[in-house]
Parts: sequence; structure tokens; C-alpha cells
Amino acid sequence: MTDLFSKFDPLIEQRAALLETGVTDPFNLVMEKVESPTVAICNGRRTILLGTYNYMGMTFDPDVVAAGKKALDEFGSGTTGSRVLNGTYAGHKAVEQALKDFYAMDHAMVFSTGYQANLGIISTIAGKDDYIILDIDSHASIYDGCAMGNAQIVPFRHNDIDALEKRLRRVPEGAGKLVVLEGVYSMLGDVAPLKEMVAVSKANGAMVLVDEAHSMGFIGEHGRGVAEAQGVIDDVDFIIGTFSKSVGTVGGFCVSNHPKFEILRLVCRPYVFTASLPPSVVATAATSIRKLMDSSGKRAHLWENSKRLHAGLRQLGFTLGTQDPQSAIIAVMMPDLETGAAMWEALLEEGLYVNLARPPATPAGMTLLRCSLCAEHSGDQVEEILGMFAAAGRATGCI
Ligand SMILES: Cc1ncc(COP(=O)(O)O)c(C=O)c1O
Repeated sequence: MTDLFSKFDPLIEQRAALLETGVTDPFNLVMEKVESPTVAICNGRRTILLGTYNYMGMTFDPDVVAAGKKALDEFGSGTTGSRVLNGTYAGHKAVEQALKDFYAMDHAMVFSTGYQANLGIISTIAGKDDYIILDIDSHASIYDGCAMGNAQIVPFRHNDIDALEKRLRRVPEGAGKLVVLEGVYSMLGDVAPLKEMVAVSKANGAMVLVDEAHSMGFIGEHGRGVAEAQGVIDDVDFIIGTFSKSVGTVGGFCVSNHPKFEILRLVCRPYVFTASLPPSVVATAATSIRKLMDSSGKRAHLWENSKRLHAGLRQLGFTLGTQDPQSAIIAVMMPDLETGAAMWEALLEEGLYVNLARPPATPAGMTLLRCSLCAEHSGDQVEEILGMFAAAGRATGCI
């Protein structure tokens, strides 16, 4: 018998070698208690959370929590069914209406995760003989959506407008084209030049899908994302998003003005062949989305936090993923996995949680300490965080 697990041996060995150095497993942390969007108890100690994607801090919002409890009492713990059978409750329609209102778009379709939204929409709309032209640094769910469908896949260099244009020009005359972009790229926290990319895509007859997972709620005047901030939202055909970041719960969605959009409910397999979100989840999501429409004060505070952390980390001597703060994600470059893991652990001992990211999730083999800021981080917490980076950086020789 061939052991089907033998393909994982290199990873098993790499992991064992890392743990043998005595470092805490960075991919197995337990939050023993979560006190707020910015503080949890980890290993028995108070820990500031700087790696949760909880950008707008909605997880403990009293209205959001109350809506979830009410729905749990009134509709039970789960739907036990697909959206197309017994799994559409009033709450699912309400959250889709909240999304249509939030984005000012005609259609909204909610999936059980953002991962499934990309899987479903991409694999369903781009079929055999169609072309998907995507940024090479796209999220795994975008690649998996491509792999699940039958279209031709054409990647182009990250955020390179000319490369996108060249790929588009090479697509055979008459073929269907879908350009897939992200608003904010989650590894380095950099923003896409959507204004130019959407223009180039449209000029070459392509439909455009933008994943705004890391920008919804925060970027743009109404929090609609980078497409809004760059003034091209009306030219984007499909926006994909998630409830697992700014919205503060779990779920995914696609919004669109395409007149035939509703047919997707019958043909999109990751929508049809899975159970719908529990009533408490859709109730929290709908309440959160409606509150996010009116959160310009929080958005401004989050920008302040992002700018302060970015400037402070640079001043300390860390190398960051972007020259200027472009989003709520700030990536601190580490020379290798061992140093990254040591720095991650030193920060945890200081009382700070960040994400350790490494290949294949990261581009170009990078090891990163990824920080995601929250609108609920106070100015004092950001200063405390900088003090922790200074101490951990010195202790590990990173600065
Ligand atoms: C760009 C992007 N798209 C989609 C997803 C998937 O979202 P979800 O957590 O809802 O599955 C993520 C999650 O990390 C993401 O970063």
C-alpha cells in the first residue's frame, strides 16, 4: 500500500524541526477567553489581538449580539437545509436586503463562507472556452474557484496593469473573459490599482469580479471597498465579500447588478449543495452590515490607527510590506521562518497576538508577521503594541 500521506512528509519534517527549537506552535494557539474585539486571554495572560481581521470590531457590538440571541430563541440553532430547499428563512432574505442596501446594488446572494462564494461564483460563471485572467497573488479561494471550473486560467503579475492588458489582448476573439481582482491583498496589505485595471478590462470586453474581503466596511466613503474609493464600483460586475472580517461573524456573499444574476441560485453548486447559515449568524450579519453603513467615525479612527502603527514600526527599524499604510493590514517582513516564529513567540510573551504567515499563503516565499488593526483599538493600545514590538524585536535581534 502506498501511504497517501507520504506527500506531506516534507511539511511534517519542517514542522517538527521548528518545534524542536522549543518555540510555541504558532499555528495552534488557543484563545481561552475573548474579552473584546481587541483583548483575549491566551496561555493565561491578557493578550492584545492584532491579527483577527476584525477590522470594525463588530463582534461584541451590543446590537449585533442581541440580534443573534433573539434569532437563536425565535428560529432555533440551525436551518438543516440548503437555501433552495428548507434553508431560506426570513433572516436570509433580510441579510441579502441589507447587502443590497449597503452596496446600492440590485442583487445579493449569501453563501455559507467567503471561500464558498469565490468557489461558487467563479466556477459557475466562467465555463469551458471562457478565460479567467487573475492576479497571481489571488487568495486560495479564487484559485480553487478556478480549479473547480473549466475555464482557461491566465495569471498576470501582481498589480501590474500592463501585464493584465497584454494577457487580455491575447485572449482569442469572441471568448468570454472574467478578470478577477482583489481590493486589498491580505498578505502585504497593499491595494490594487482598480481604477486602471477595471478600465483596461472593460476596454477589452471583460467582465470584472473584485474580492473586497479585506476592504468592506473600512475603505471607501460608505465602506463599500476599494472599488468605491477609486470611483469604479459601477463598472465592477461582481463584488465578492465575507462576513468573517469587518462584519464580525461568518458567511460570504456576491453582489451584482447583472440582470440575470438570480439564475445563479439554481446553478451554483457551492450555494445549492450545502446547508445555509444559521439564523443567529444571518441576524448578526444583517445588524452589523446596517450599522457599518453609518460608521464613518470608526473608519476614520481605524485609518489613524493604521497610520500610527505603520509609522511607528518603520521608526523602530522594521521592514514593512508597503511603503505607506494602504489598508488595515500591516505586514512586517521576517528574514526566515525560524526568526519569524521566534519573533511571533516573543510578541506573544509580551502579550500581543499577530498572524505568522509563510508560504504557500505568502507571495515569493516570504515569512511575514501580519498585523490587522481594529477600529476598537484605542490610541493607547497602539502605543502599547509599538512598545511590545520594540521589546520583542530587540530580544530576537530583528532590530
Ligand atoms: C481575499 C479573501 N477572499 C475570501 C476569503 C474567504 O473568506 P471566508 O473566511 O469567509 O471563507 C478570504 C479569507 O481569508 C480572503 O482573504
